[in-house]
Amino acid sequence: MNGGAAFVAISLVVLHLVSDSSANSHGYQPQKTSSVKNPKSAANDGLSFDYYQESCPGLEGIIHKSVNEWLKRDPTLAASLIRLHFHDCSVRGCDASILLDHKGSERRANASKTLRGFEVINDIKEAVEKKCPRKVSCADILTAVARDATVEVGGPFWMVPYGRKDGRVSLSKEAEMVPMGREKVTQLVEFFQSKGMNVLDLVVLSGMHTIGRSSCGALQYRLYNFQGTGKPDPSIDQKYLNFLRRKCRWASENVDLDAKTPNTFDVQYYKNLERKMGLLSTDQMLYNDSRTFPLVAALASQPSVFLDQVAVSMVKLGNILDFPGQDGEIRANCNSVNPSYY
Ligand code: HEM
Repeated sequence: MNGGAAFVAISLVVLHLVSDSSANSHGYQPQKTSSVKNPKSAANDGLSFDYYQESCPGLEGIIHKSVNEWLKRDPTLAASLIRLHFHDCSVRGCDASILLDHKGSERRANASKTLRGFEVINDIKEAVEKKCPRKVSCADILTAVARDATVEVGGPFWMVPYGRKDGRVSLSKEAEMVPMGREKVTQLVEFFQSKGMNVLDLVVLSGMHTIGRSSCGALQYRLYNFQGTGKPDPSIDQKYLNFLRRKCRWASENVDLDAKTPNTFDVQYYKNLERKMGLLSTDQMLYNDSRTFPLVAALASQPSVFLDQVAVSMVKLGNILDFPGQDGEIRANCNSVNPSYY
């Protein structure tokens, strides 16, 4: 067995251990959870599965029903809602700061331009406020919506711990730090580590690109002028390159992140990388980097490990908190901080 193959074999074992030993889609115990440990997070943030048991017992039913209705009308929203949650948790933790809509807020950043699904969260917040006024945070709603959207497109279920508070600060320059597809693997690893997540979380959550789309504007440089060479990115399969050039004549067009099975929540995303068919440069590079390649290879051949680990990594993502549980507020309207603050 050569070194590379040995590494893959080891990572297969590691993946099994990780997925077996962690909370997965079937194995959650309702209990208190603490946030992902990151430099800014509180030691005990008070998240728990029964947080709304008394203050809003029907919460998950309201959210579930509404998500299903929205997705029936527009199935493409599922991917957008999952991405919205990622962008929220990536800046100041999962505090709904991405939803604030004022001059200079995260939502107004360049990196947020193609985010969608805000109207879904507003609609659900309105319904929740009718039943349980001023009890449920927008951050908790967005977290539960991302879970329901994942399940709706065929992904795994996980239990969501609740108790997040809504932040009062939202700065567009911080949102510009969220990876946009042109970073090096080291930058991605460091970004994830700064949020308390590891290389496995990075590779698994990149696998959420098994569904959804990218605007062509984000990738035209790969098709025509990669790194200022005047040539396409050499790591793109020639036929796929031709397809993308045809598909992406206009920056405003959209193209599927998973060219083969764009509407199925599966491991085809990883198989595509093996065939030089990753849409984003940051996707394709996961196959070419020694830290991430063994995980890509392992996940490509083990769908059930992928599904179990998505549940684990999504819980970690949703538990990123940057301030203690007592801080923050329950917004009345997800798009603006409560007026009393001023
Ligand atoms: C690893 C770093 C990541 C990078 C560089 C990245 C980059 C991107 C880019 C450039 C797009 C297309 C945006 C556009 O329309 O122009 C996108 C879409 C998407 N991303 Fe990521 N992403 C990353 C991680 C994640 C994570 C962690 C998740 C989920 C937890 C995620 C979920 C999605 C989804 C579902 C879409 C499709 C959105 C839609 O169809 O509206 N991404 N991502």
